Formats: sequence, structure tokens, C-alpha cells
Amino acid sequence: MAEISVIEHIHSMQLKWSPTATGQFTSLLHDLILSAKIISRSVTKAGLVDILGGTGNINVQGEQVQKLDDFANSVMIYRMKNCGVVCALGSEEEEELVVVGSPKERGNYVIFFDPLDGSSNIDANVSIGTIFSIYRVEDDTELTKENVLRKGAEQAAAGYFLYGPSTIMVYSTGHGVYGFTLDPSVGEFLLSHDNIKIPENGKYFSANLANYGKWSEQDQKAADSFVQGGYSLRYVGSLVADFHRTLLYGGIFSYPADSKNAKGKLRLLYEANPLSFLMEQAGGLALNGSGDRVLEIVPEHIHTRTAFLFGSKNDVEKYRSVFE
Ligand code: AHG
Ligand code: MN
Ligand code: MN
Repeated sequence: MAEISVIEHIHSMQLKWSPTATGQFTSLLHDLILSAKIISRSVTKAGLVDILGGTGNINVQGEQVQKLDDFANSVMIYRMKNCGVVCALGSEEEEELVVVGSPKERGNYVIFFDPLDGSSNIDANVSIGTIFSIYRVEDDTELTKENVLRKGAEQAAAGYFLYGPSTIMVYSTGHGVYGFTLDPSVGEFLLSHDNIKIPENGKYFSANLANYGKWSEQDQKAADSFVQGGYSLRYVGSLVADFHRTLLYGGIFSYPADSKNAKGKLRLLYEANPLSFLMEQAGGLALNGSGDRVLEIVPEHIHTRTAFLFGSKNDVEKYRSVFE
């Protein structure tokens, strides 16, 4: 079989779906992929060089910043600022939206990212990842909060890199979901998961059950129906890894609102939106705590949080049936 590289794949998708493309998007993806290769290189060597542990700082979310969080964030910020096609960016580790370049020379893309997802797992060598969400704006769009913070349904592309036993990239431009595995011997991501579709039913239930006592009665009932209904429990605690397993094997993931996180814990712009875009493209469902599509939520601010429920169509419907 011919080995298809990710950039080759992006080109062929553009020829098919956006033949008048200017090359800006390919440029953006190229630099994003380079960022991930650099982060992956450091993650792989983490035990050998002095990059494990905390920085001693607390981020805008009130969480401990790990050295690798910091490193991944600076790699992403540098590459995205200098790739020439990004006009604004938002990161989990930056309090405010960062506007890039002068209005005359700016590119047409806005990107939101979680530079390193699964921070609590870093020092234990458990899978972690980088999640991204991309929007396109017109040349004359004023880069105000109202214009830039749009609902997830308007994403131009979304995806993630998973630093696990192998490094994997999964992306979608709204025409299916594709997965690529980094072949370190050639330094390229090669197509390994063509047109991914999530099974309609799964056998895994994934939630932080230690929060059970803080959930609403309905979320508790829904969880009971899976725990007692022959499902097996899986919870990594790195969203990107829990998502990747759910995408490939099917099943359901739930991080509901609770008495500590009244609006949910996971962040809309750089966690729930990009993953919901992929989930829907793969034939699954992604809902908030009211049972509405995550992709329809209008963000209030860059770090807006949401309850997040996603997975196989029949499993998500089974979970929500408790709420009716
Ligand atoms: P991050 O490491 O980017 O701050 O994200 C952590 C998130 C997510 O990866 C995971 O699903 C969730 O936090 C785990 O939360 P709990 O420890 O509350 O289960
Ligand atoms: Mn995260
Ligand atoms: Mn993070």
C-alpha cells in the first residue's frame, strides 16, 4: 500500500473540497505538525532531561503548571505566531486571546489549543496530548471577542496529537475523520486510520466515578445504568486519551457538572469543541449537560467550561434517556 503522508492527505482533501484554497491552511497544518513533533520529542525524552515536575506556578485556571505544559505552550505559541497565517490564538495557558501581527499582514486563521492535555499524568508516563480547534475569518473581520469566539459548528478544522505508545494525529476538516501515526524513522505522520467511524454501541463507560457523590441525581442514575449494565470501566484522566479510545472502540465518556464545578470542568474552546467536531464527523454524539449539541454553544469567554458527554450514538441516547 502507498504510504500517504498527512500533508499529502490535506492536499488531496483540499483539491476535492476547496479547489480554490490559497495554501494558508496547509501552511498552518504544517507548522502545527512541526510543533507536535517537537513536543513529542520532548515528551519521549521526559525522564532523561530535566523536564518533569511542576514549574511552581499556577495557571489562569488555578491549576499547577507542569514544566511540560509550559514547554508545549511556548512551542505552540511561537510556531502559531510565526507561521504567517494565524491572526489570533487562544491557549489554555494564556489568560487572554492573543492577537497576532498587524491588521495589514495578518492571516485568516484563528486557533485555540490545549498545548498539553492530561497534565496530571505526565510524570507517570501515561498518554497525554495536544488538542486544536481552527476557525477561518474574512480579511476584514475585526478581531473582537464577539467575532472570534464562535460556536463550534463553525470550526474549519479540529484535531489532536496523542503522545502514547506511538504518536498519533487525528484531524477533520468536516469531511470525515482521519488518523496518522508518526513513523519516527522517516519523521512523518503516515495514514493509519482511514475515515474513522465510531461503533454505534460500545462496551466501555468512562467517567471520574470518584465524583459520583457530587453529581445530579440524573447523572448518578445514568452512570448506574452503565455500571450495572454490563459495561466495563475505563478512565485515563487524559481527555485526549479517553476520547481516542472511545472513537476507536465505541462506548461513552461523561464529565458532568458537579457541586464543585457547577458549569462542568472541561473547557469548551480547546477541549470540548474540537473533540465534539471529530465525534460528530465520526458518526457519534457530543452533548452538554442540557442534552444539546456542544457545537451549538456560544462561548462567553475563552476559558468557558461545559459539561461534556460523548460517544457511540446508542450509548449517549441511553444515558440521556434517564433525563426524559
Ligand atoms: P489539562 O491537563 O489540559 O488541564 O486537562 C485535564 C483534564 C482532562 O484531560 C481530563 O479529562 C480531566 O482534566 C481529568 O479531570 P479529573 O482529574 O477531575 O478526573
Ligand atoms: Mn486539557
Ligand atoms: Mn492542558
